Amino acid sequence: MPTVFIETYGCQMNVSDSELMLGKLAAEGYAAVDSPEAADVVLLNTCAIREHAETRVIGRLGELRRFLKKDAVLGVTGCMAQRLGPRLLETDSRVSLVIGPDGYRALPALIEGARKGERMIATEFDLEEHYEDVAASRFDGVKAWIPVQRGCDYRCTYCIVPYTRGNERSRQLEDVVRETGSVVAQGLTEVVLLGQTVNSYHDGARDFADLLRAVGAVPGLRRLRFTSPHPNDFSDGVIAAMAEVKAVCEHVHLPMQSGSSRTLKRMLRRYTREEYLDCVARLRAAIPGLGLTTDIIVGFPGETDEDFAETLSAVREVGFDDAFMFKFSAREGTPATRLPAEMTVPDDVMDARFNELLATVRGISRDRNFRRVGERCEVLVEKEARKGELLQARSRDFKTVLMPGDKSMIGQYFHVELTGTTGSTFTGQVVRERAPLPMSG
Ligand code: 5AD
Ligand code: SF4
Repeated sequence: MPTVFIETYGCQMNVSDSELMLGKLAAEGYAAVDSPEAADVVLLNTCAIREHAETRVIGRLGELRRFLKKDAVLGVTGCMAQRLGPRLLETDSRVSLVIGPDGYRALPALIEGARKGERMIATEFDLEEHYEDVAASRFDGVKAWIPVQRGCDYRCTYCIVPYTRGNERSRQLEDVVRETGSVVAQGLTEVVLLGQTVNSYHDGARDFADLLRAVGAVPGLRRLRFTSPHPNDFSDGVIAAMAEVKAVCEHVHLPMQSGSSRTLKRMLRRYTREEYLDCVARLRAAIPGLGLTTDIIVGFPGETDEDFAETLSAVREVGFDDAFMFKFSAREGTPATRLPAEMTVPDDVMDARFNELLATVRGISRDRNFRRVGERCEVLVEKEARKGELLQARSRDFKTVLMPGDKSMIGQYFHVELTGTTGSTFTGQVVRERAPLPMSG
């Protein structure tokens, strides 16, 4: 039996794609192994979002060649493969397979070619491709990543994704519902719907509100999440569906990117500071106890001290539970690279802003979390925690809760009291096991 090892970088969409690749290869008789030394095929499923993501992969390729089996096939897949294509083959003689996000269907045939000594590239976009007939080999036994949309039609000026994942397309609602039913039948009770701008989902007849209602009605599904939405696609209908569908969790990851309307305009985010804050207000009004997290970029070209101050003030005004923060990284071919060179934010300014933002976000989330200690909430146990004898669980509003217990509790729901917090994660004590919900939508 041939063996395969896949290492995944980047976003959940990549995790989901790796599950599809493994599923495709499993159907062809491959066995997954958990170390590259033992594998006949080693794939790095890569990300291109920032330069750092790519330098990590280049470093890893150099490292890997030392302990690969002699005749192993080494492949690069995903966004970096799509972006660099043949350039990857030129820079690394050991790589013999380069496959973009729409090329995984041909994986077995491409591997065959590489095995015969050819160097294979597949970077064509395929707007019909949803891997509908490929059964994913899922890594996670508690929650399922379900892609509902691939590609992106927004053109934020900093972003490489439209070039690496092509244009937006949505799966048919029935296919998503069917996949949800099948993962629930396998015992998974949480589903995370994935798309680059997931709430712009539209299958020609049904929109994201319809999708939430249909998936939320699958019997046995207890938690429904989605990532990442775009603020402009939170129509009243979508917000109403979120509020009505019981399974939809009280958490939204709502990328803000900047709190300055001037910067947002140059980013082509298509909303102003006020419109973003209004979206937050509408979500909060409809969904009590909503957890809010975000993405923020500092040092976008032309960002002034005043612009940055507006980002800080927006962060305070919203009071995010957490944020992913990034220093702007110029991506070849994106419109932001064509802005005049004098608009580039110097590294020292970028670093200082990043540190100030980090301290501000951390401070706010600390304060919010300390106020929560003593509350009770429902958690789903996800896995063993990295440290100690603890389990890692998650609340509906996306807080991480570490709690005592044993492996048999993984995948189950409990009511816990939040007994303490580090400022970012909580500790919890079981108050009572929650009775299973009746089997109905
Ligand atoms: N530089 C820095 N951060 C970026 N992101 C996307 N493109 C870039 C870039 N060129 C961030 C955005 C996005 C998150 C996934 O990555 O905040 O929401
Ligand atoms: Fe995911 Fe974007 Fe990275 Fe591609 S570039 S892996 S879509 S985060």
